[in-house]
Amino acid sequence: MDFFNLEDESLFKTLDKSNMLRAIYNLPDQMEEAVFFTRAANVRLDKSQIKQVVVTGLGGSAVGGDLLRSYAGDKCSVPIVVNRGYSLPAFVGSGSLVVAVSYSGNTEETLSAYHDARRRGAQIIAITSGGELKQQAIRDGVKVVTVPSGLQPRAATGYLFIPQLLILSDAGLLPSVDQELGETLKLLRKMREDLAPGTAADRNLAKRLAKKLHGRIPVIHSAVGLTEILGYRWKTQINENAQSLAFAHHYPELNHNEIVGFDVPHELVAKLDVITLISSKNHPQIQKRMEITTRELTSSSGCRNIDVYAQGDSDLAQMFSLLYIGDWVSSYLAVAYGLDPTPVDKIQLLKKMLAE
Ligand code: PA5
Repeated sequence: MDFFNLEDESLFKTLDKSNMLRAIYNLPDQMEEAVFFTRAANVRLDKSQIKQVVVTGLGGSAVGGDLLRSYAGDKCSVPIVVNRGYSLPAFVGSGSLVVAVSYSGNTEETLSAYHDARRRGAQIIAITSGGELKQQAIRDGVKVVTVPSGLQPRAATGYLFIPQLLILSDAGLLPSVDQELGETLKLLRKMREDLAPGTAADRNLAKRLAKKLHGRIPVIHSAVGLTEILGYRWKTQINENAQSLAFAHHYPELNHNEIVGFDVPHELVAKLDVITLISSKNHPQIQKRMEITTRELTSSSGCRNIDVYAQGDSDLAQMFSLLYIGDWVSSYLAVAYGLDPTPVDKIQLLKKMLAE
């Protein structure tokens, strides 16, 4: 299998036709801009009326809800549920805040869940760049956070996540996030200089990881709570950007099932790279589990172990540092395979065939 040289800058120009790498570089700017778009929507919520929050969306538009759930798990006074389907859970009613997120605004499952929320009298906020969702929300008098179009949904995570974070924080459902957001933006701006295409692999962690992962199947392990969703984000980014299979699970649950599966077939297990996403905020027993699992169990099965560490102090910074490394790695992996990281032809084809 050919390996394309990640130090050849002309290769990026040839392969990355729709500027995925530029969009990744811009993530901290996008997060900052999202503050402005959120304020423009002027959302005012009465905290006492909200018994639970349900974020409904799919794929790249659901990830903001996943991040919110992971971040807010130990901070938010009401449960946060991420819904990925045509209808909403039975508990949704007038005491629910439903955040309908669709970057395109045209995802059929999300539009259906939006109508379900309307039928049940929930409070609704829509986050979208336009499409049917925006039109219907305006018609229905529902608050809309409108974000710029022109990106892939998975590259619009800043636009789709920050409004959710701010809306909950403004409503008093989360403590103020100003300080954590400030630290996160500063950290990501520093990281991007080390991770960008102009930085050679000896100083660029994302390029080194992409080189390692070339020709292998990544299995990403994170931990329950703060980093839980990040293994899944790495997986989906590797799926969509690098067009490669990848798998994800999290501690401690994986210690109760997946570790048994690293035995056979030997020749395929030897092709796996187990990437462990490590946060200094992990429960000490989680850290111990990670060490025992990688040292004693996965490596003895013949697969390789790779540890990736969160950076920064705050919860938000640690989450986004891991997310950011994964976004860069997945796009470099695409280039290492000689692929453009942007097109998702199979998703488009499926949507088209379903609409016919
Ligand atoms: O990455 C993608 O293109 C998908 O995962 C989409 O996000 C998903 O199909 C939903 O579309 P939208 O984000 O426009 O609602």
